[in-house]
This record gives sequence, C-alpha cells and structure tokens, in this order.
Amino acid sequence: MPLRGRQTFCAAIVDSAECNSAGQTDWKSVFRLKSCLNCRPNIGDFFVLTKTTADGDSTTLVEEPRKTTRGVKPANESGLAKTAKPLTIFLDGEFVPEEDAKVSVFDHGLLYGDGIFEGIRFYNGGVFRLEEHLERLWDSARSICLEVPMSRSEMTEALLETIRKNDLRDGYIRLIVTRGVGNLGLNPAQCKRPSVIIIATTIALYSKEMYQNGLTVVTVATRRTGPGALNPAVKSLNYLNNVMARIEANLSGADEALMLNDQGCIAECTADNVFVIKRGEIFTPPITAGALRGITRSVVFEIAAELGIKISETDISRHDVFIADECLLSGTAAEVVPVVKADGRVIGTGKPGPISLRMIARFREITREGGTPIYS
Ligand SMILES: Cc1ncc(COP(=O)(O)O)c(C=O)c1O
Repeated sequence: MPLRGRQTFCAAIVDSAECNSAGQTDWKSVFRLKSCLNCRPNIGDFFVLTKTTADGDSTTLVEEPRKTTRGVKPANESGLAKTAKPLTIFLDGEFVPEEDAKVSVFDHGLLYGDGIFEGIRFYNGGVFRLEEHLERLWDSARSICLEVPMSRSEMTEALLETIRKNDLRDGYIRLIVTRGVGNLGLNPAQCKRPSVIIIATTIALYSKEMYQNGLTVVTVATRRTGPGALNPAVKSLNYLNNVMARIEANLSGADEALMLNDQGCIAECTADNVFVIKRGEIFTPPITAGALRGITRSVVFEIAAELGIKISETDISRHDVFIADECLLSGTAAEVVPVVKADGRVIGTGKPGPISLRMIARFREITREGGTPIYS
C-alpha cells in the first residue's frame, strides 16, 4: 500500500481500518464516513485512512483510490447555493447569463489571488450595511494599490440592479474586484484594467439545526497571517490560509476552525469573528489580534449596547474558550451562530446560552429592518 502523505486527500475521511493478524491493513473493514470536504466525491478520489498498527497506538495516513461513491453524501455546506434559475451576473459593466460569465485565464485574480472581495447579504428587499461593505472594499483596494474602476454610486447601482435582474429579495452578493488581465509575471503593473464581478444568489452556510444546537470548532495548526505578511484587514482574493484552516477543521470533523495568531491568541475563525461570554460579559479579540473588522461583529457590538450587555475587545486564549459560559461566531454568510464545543470540550451547558439566543433573535430582527432598498 503506497504511503503518499496528505497532499492528495480529497473527498472523505473515515474511521480507522484495522490491521489483520499479519499486520496488514484489512481493506474489507467497514469504513465509516466521518466527515467530508466541501467537494463532491467522485470515482477516482482518494480516501484518507487511519491505519491502526497491531499495538494499537501508532497511526499512519494511507490512501486508497475510491472505488465507489456509495454512502457518501455531499457536504451539507452548500456555500453559494445555486438558485434553480440560471443567474444573471454583472461582469465589467454588462449583465450576462452565468454560462457566459467568464474571465480570462490571464486575470491576476486567478493567477495570483490578486484582488479583493466583499460578501454582502440582503434581507427582505434591503441590502444590509451596504455602505460599510463598500467602505471596506475601497479600503482593501487602497491598501493593495488597486483602483476600483467605478464610483461608489455606480457600484451601488450595479449591485442593486444585479439583485433585481435575479428577482431576489433575500440573498447574498459576492462582489469581486480583480487586478485584471496581465501576463504570466506577477507584476500588477502589467494589468491595465481591474475587473468587477457581482454575483447575487442565495446562500445557506449552516442548517437550521446548527443554529439551534450550535457548532463545534477545533483549533487548527494553520495560523492567521500577521500584519507583517498579508494584513488580515485586507479582504483579498488570497484565502488559501483560511482554506487550509478549513480543511483541517473538516478533517477533524468540526464545523469551523479557530485560528490563532503568532502569539497563540485567538484571531478569528475562517470567515467569522469569535466572541466568548463569561459571567454575563462578552469578549472578542481586538483587530490587532488578526481579526477582520467584521461588519456583523460591529452589529454584535451595537446589539450588546442596546441590551445593556458589557462587551470588550481583549486577547482571548483557547483556555478562555474552554471556560466560557457561551461562545458565538459572527459573519455575513454565517450570520450569528452559537458554538457549543471547542477542541472536544463542552462550552457551558453544551447548548446555546441565554445571551447567545437573545443576540441571535435581535440580529434577525435588525436584518429585516431597513437596509438599502432594492426595489424602490
Ligand atoms: C476572515 C474573515 N473574518 C471575519 C469575517 C466576518 O466579517 P463580516 O461580518 O464583515 O462578514 C469574514 C467574512 O467576511 C472573513 O472572511
């Protein structure tokens, strides 16, 4: 059996395969599906197996080409779930059917992750915190010396029109500005015009049960990049760091990854800010710990003030999460979601706590009030 390391894992991780008495892996063992990456497994994908040696305590990762997809369900995280009708996409000033929404293979957004983006939600016919998202997009652009090739009011109109063209009232916008087409060298000076892409669709990151019962998280080895590298405040197209963290969470069967900074303090999750609640107070890592200045995070601050709950920014360690009464994540796609287990430790009672539930309820109300109107 070839030992090929982790690099080719793809579809699924299963419980351990027992060794037979001759010390060989018994491939006829029943492999229970434990977790699944976000891809849909196909024939030819690889299993990643934990091989338990005869003495039972050392393990080795081995791989076996997939023979069947039987029993493998698609991941429950649908990400940008497609609506039944083909989408209309905004691409560089034009509205095009999704099958024609294509970018060049020489776009530096694709070649180097050179570009920026925002994820924005709209609820009940209004875009939630649009101004804040545009502000952050323009800040990201300035930070990486990218000129957004539209004014803010043109961008607003393009966003709203993209939603209208797709007949949506509730959903999610992915707004992307790439460096544009250049040559194969990474020098952005080669790229003459940035590209703007707007996708309006629906999204369902977690199931209803996960909001009711809470998520599990694990601390991952992949650290959040420090401000001396790619500053986490820039919402760039280069998310491989976060993707690697997410893969680690998937491999250990957790719903999300807690990412630490180089000092060992919690920065954030892969696409969400983190809050812990202890003795009736809320704590969250400061931006300087490597957290994105999340727009949903700022709504959590507003709700806490409204509910008279003290909230403060402070360095948070894994220990603080383990001993917390409650834990919450916030993000545009995730919204506000409770966490009930971290690194195998039950948080609080193991159920979403009272402050989390009040926060989630008020967040839902706020999202449906106001917002930039789409149809008037
Ligand atoms: C790395 C990261 N952290 C936090 C967040 C949450 O930010 P927001 O609430 O603005 O969506 C996101 C999502 O955009 C993110 O990508």
